[in-house]
Amino acid sequence: MPPHPPATVTWWENDQQRRLPWRDPGERRAVQVVVADDLTADAALRIATRGTGLLWRGDFRGARQLRDALRRRLARRGIRDDGDPRATYLRVRQAAAHRARVLGMVLIELDADDRVPLPHAPDVRRACREAFGPPVARSLIPLQAMLGAMGARQWRERGVAVPALGERIHPHHGVFAPTRSDYVDLVARAPLPDAGLAFDIGTGTGVLAAVLARRGVARVVATDVQPAAVVCARENLARLGLDDRVEVRRHDLFPRGRAGLVVVNPPWLPGTPHSPLEAGVFDPGGRLLARIVRQLPDHLTPGGEAWLVLSDLAELLGLRTRDALLAQFGRAGLVVRGRLDARPSPTPRPDDPLRHLRAQETVSLWRLGLAR
Ligand SMILES: C[S@@+](CC[C@H](N)C(=O)[O-])C[C@H]1O[C@@H](n2cnc3c(N)ncnc32)[C@H](O)[C@@H]1O
Repeated sequence: MPPHPPATVTWWENDQQRRLPWRDPGERRAVQVVVADDLTADAALRIATRGTGLLWRGDFRGARQLRDALRRRLARRGIRDDGDPRATYLRVRQAAAHRARVLGMVLIELDADDRVPLPHAPDVRRACREAFGPPVARSLIPLQAMLGAMGARQWRERGVAVPALGERIHPHHGVFAPTRSDYVDLVARAPLPDAGLAFDIGTGTGVLAAVLARRGVARVVATDVQPAAVVCARENLARLGLDDRVEVRRHDLFPRGRAGLVVVNPPWLPGTPHSPLEAGVFDPGGRLLARIVRQLPDHLTPGGEAWLVLSDLAELLGLRTRDALLAQFGRAGLVVRGRLDARPSPTPRPDDPLRHLRAQETVSLWRLGLAR
């Protein structure tokens, strides 16, 4: 099948109709576009809130100033915890989605080489290519998406220090990055079963597969559904000299067969993801976790062990109960052999109404085996 043509947007400018494709594959789209000349920030906020894109034609620094002014206005609408964490959390998520939608309305035109034809614009060619693939034509891009791509470029270049490996892991755009070491440390210190083969399900940057290989597991098969994660994990494992022992495959959950050790660090919050990065965090309706637990027994050797890494934040927020999780294990025929806990040290935002709950979060590595 031929690939889908990129979505386009049409607008009027200087009495001419213009039409360009979007550069990024993001889902939030302006359906109408106006040129953002001489607008006050309050007027821009009203227009952007209606879903109309603001195409910036002035100095690039002005586009950032407009974005910052919108952000300040949106931040003023603080949310208070009314004692019902679940309801507060849902309001926080709604507000975040609204903020992302409105900020995504500040638009920049890119030329056919991904250059920004505005004074004082940075060179975003490499960042855009890495995040969105090679350019094909002139295009429009939300400033937010462009800044995201530039941030990702820096992370990819510098990498993230992973103390358990004593090395850096280099995340790609949209791939879940191991910025928190708590869960990696759990995988580095859990007692290792005698397993010649391990599966790392949802490998992301490949960080946990690398820890397993460094701990002496002879062969690891790592899977992820995200193509960017597969490329990223392969690159990281090759850089660490572990690609002869770790095979990375694009696959939905488990590869065929059984392993003596199966490691899974799934998205840990029930909810709808709005970007590839969020797909590492949010699990629609908790259905992915349910599928993982249900399918696990078919991929473990009889004496094998599964390490399920899971934060209890969903429980603290009232989105899941501990009893329901244990019942899922039981229904799948899994027994808990042990659990290792870590207290993450998050840096809660001072305006986060749920920061008192985030401060209580525990990340656990559940050691699961077959009941029979
Ligand atoms: C919380 S991230 C963990 C990434 C990595 N294992 C780590 O610990 O840093 C969850 C990962 O699961 C992947 N994922 C989500 N659904 C999946 C599926 N159905 N099959 C395989 N991987 C999936 C996501 O793309 C993401 O990379």
